[in-house]
Amino acid sequence: MNRRATSAMVLCLAVVWLAATGAVVAAPSLPSWSLLPQPAKASPAASGAVDIGDGAVVLVKGADHQELQSIANRLVQRLADTHGLHLHVATPGASHPSITFDVNPGANVADDSGYLITVDDGGIVVTARTPRGAFYGSVTVWQLLTPPGWTRGTPVKVTHGVIEDHPRFAWRAILLDSGRHFQSVADIKQLIDWMSLSKLNVLLWHVTEDQGWRLEIPKYPDLTKIGACREAAGLDAELTGSADKPYCGFYTEADVREIVRYAAERYVDVVPEIDLPGHSQAAIAAYPWLGVTGKRPAVWTSWGVSPWLLKPDEKTLQFVDDVLDEVMRLFPSRYVSIGGDEADKQQWNASPEVQAKMHKLGLANMDQLQGWFMTQIAGHLIEHGRTPVGWDDELVAGAALPKSQVVMSWHGDDNERVALTALQQGHDVVMTPQESLYFDHYQSALPDEWAGPPPPATLRQAYDTIVIPKGASSAEAKHIIGVQGGLWTEQMLTFAHDEHAVFPRVAALAELGWSPTGASNWNGFLQRMPAELARYRTLGIGYADTAFAPVFQVTAAGHDAFKVELSNQVASGTIRYTTDGSDPTNQSTSYSRPLQLTGKTTLRATTFAPDGFELAAPRTKILDETTLISRDGSALATCSHQAPFRLDGGKAAGARRTYSLELGHMCWLWVRAPVDGVKHVVLTAERIPWRDGDEAKNAVVHPKASAAGEFEIHADSCTGPLVARLPLEGAVQGKGQVRIEGKVAMPAGVGVRDLCVITTGDPRDGQWALAQMAFSK
Ligand code: ACM
Repeated sequence: MNRRATSAMVLCLAVVWLAATGAVVAAPSLPSWSLLPQPAKASPAASGAVDIGDGAVVLVKGADHQELQSIANRLVQRLADTHGLHLHVATPGASHPSITFDVNPGANVADDSGYLITVDDGGIVVTARTPRGAFYGSVTVWQLLTPPGWTRGTPVKVTHGVIEDHPRFAWRAILLDSGRHFQSVADIKQLIDWMSLSKLNVLLWHVTEDQGWRLEIPKYPDLTKIGACREAAGLDAELTGSADKPYCGFYTEADVREIVRYAAERYVDVVPEIDLPGHSQAAIAAYPWLGVTGKRPAVWTSWGVSPWLLKPDEKTLQFVDDVLDEVMRLFPSRYVSIGGDEADKQQWNASPEVQAKMHKLGLANMDQLQGWFMTQIAGHLIEHGRTPVGWDDELVAGAALPKSQVVMSWHGDDNERVALTALQQGHDVVMTPQESLYFDHYQSALPDEWAGPPPPATLRQAYDTIVIPKGASSAEAKHIIGVQGGLWTEQMLTFAHDEHAVFPRVAALAELGWSPTGASNWNGFLQRMPAELARYRTLGIGYADTAFAPVFQVTAAGHDAFKVELSNQVASGTIRYTTDGSDPTNQSTSYSRPLQLTGKTTLRATTFAPDGFELAAPRTKILDETTLISRDGSALATCSHQAPFRLDGGKAAGARRTYSLELGHMCWLWVRAPVDGVKHVVLTAERIPWRDGDEAKNAVVHPKASAAGEFEIHADSCTGPLVARLPLEGAVQGKGQVRIEGKVAMPAGVGVRDLCVITTGDPRDGQWALAQMAFSK
């Protein structure tokens, strides 16, 4: 039943204002639209809505009938799965359809990926020039049918209005690193499906690495026979089941064809990346003649930048051409990435043969030699009608790339200067700045934050990514062809972790890639997040609730009393809490000002959206006599004051523990610790196998006082008075988390004191990580 507006004029103004903010839009009392990415133009009407319920008919008409039919079938299936609504696709000519897909190459729609949706008394009509546009329209229809506050299985009212939509950029990508950790074909298909629901359209698939060559190349069988297996180092042993069982995995030709086919059905191009001439240690392990030294390295078990580079000679170029010929057979994508990042030149510099090659070519340095090598490879792709893609590293080094090469710019920390250089040199550029769009970076300082490198890349940072480098002219800006999120998997052992890293930051990426210039509106985005998170939940996506998770800040408020401040990263939603340990509900007390709590209390809090959707799982803080004199490792600072790394320890009792630490320096700071009268300390810690390759050169070694080393607690500074020494003898043999305790010689009456905790010994022998330090009196 339609509800009528009382004052069309006032409502129109309200709608226009809301539309301009990019927020959830609808006239009051009508169900709102909550679309993500924000469409180019969304104009909900002031009145009127259509009802869609069980039995509603979906009709497809126009060109490409079969393809459209399968788009409609998938929409119907998705609605059944996620919503419990049962629609059906009609036979041609059915009357009174609720949803119509009409593809007409002459339709008045902005581009081939665009679509027009009208919602009126005739139902929902999606018009597009191509099935691709109709597919994106179908995603929007699914979003219209899953508005804020929808209830499973109940009919939906869709507010009347018009949506005219098309993407801002042609390249809306996720990079998936299958080299460091391998994902199953089923998981990759799952990721592709979910990506397509955010209107992303490129999977940049990184299939070769130092730690594993993952693509079957029949002409060079050892690439996968040898190069796809590494010794099970560190946590690999958990994945393989035993340290004696190597970590192996590769994709067969049939696997690739299946992934490419599945992706094409969802309008996702799979762009393969064969990373050259660095990140090639696994290839050289398979065929040592590909390297410079003639020696056979092991497939790498460390992370970081390996020194093993391909040898820039004719035989290697032939190998690369052969590999690329197979890649071009398997991947129909116009684009093929040849990498070019992080090519450490130490082996080239040390090789008389490579030096001679450089001089023979009249080149001034090894970066120019890399430029020459990559140009040869790019030429082979260009000859075959493909467009080469590569990283921006050579531009950083001052070497040139072939003009037609697409540059993926990850050195965003240089104020997008490298991307600007690429534009000025005439390249098409994909923006993938590491500090905001590398989704392997962790997302917060929460105690339960997952593993990843620093610095954190928050949802807000992803959203605020600069997509047009400062200083680019409007002509240059046209050569920004898109955006890409990076899923580098050194610290991502499982697909669950991939999901957690991608979602919901992918929503920010989707908006950067799809929504028009000027549409950026953080508050509007936040208002549309609850409905999007609800969709993730119905799809079964293990998304991160980090941005909305309650953060507890606890300070002393007199004897046996605490002041507790609650917040969340995005300052959004209503935080509700309980003090009896029960799960907060949408009726629990809402937080509005700092709490004063006394005695022993179990505080539990979470965040709710206006429609009652729980935006984050509840988190707990126990308040008792130990609270202020204990500290979780994630709440300690690193001694360099840099953001910590987050590293996984072993899995114990089904749960994985993640630690905050500085790679190569076992040193933590607790600023202003209230340690008056403490007499005893318990540390919980774990020793993590060193896997950090080239980070080793920065390792800091504190001298040991005994063979096994020790934890030391110093007051005031790391060279200040030693107040506790906790020998590791007895702990070094322990597996997983260990408990180390000892006396503390804290002078009485000191009040608060800065503390520095160090572990003696060499972190490269295994780095100690601190889960918690707990004092007692
Ligand atoms: C990269 O992050 N090495 C491209």
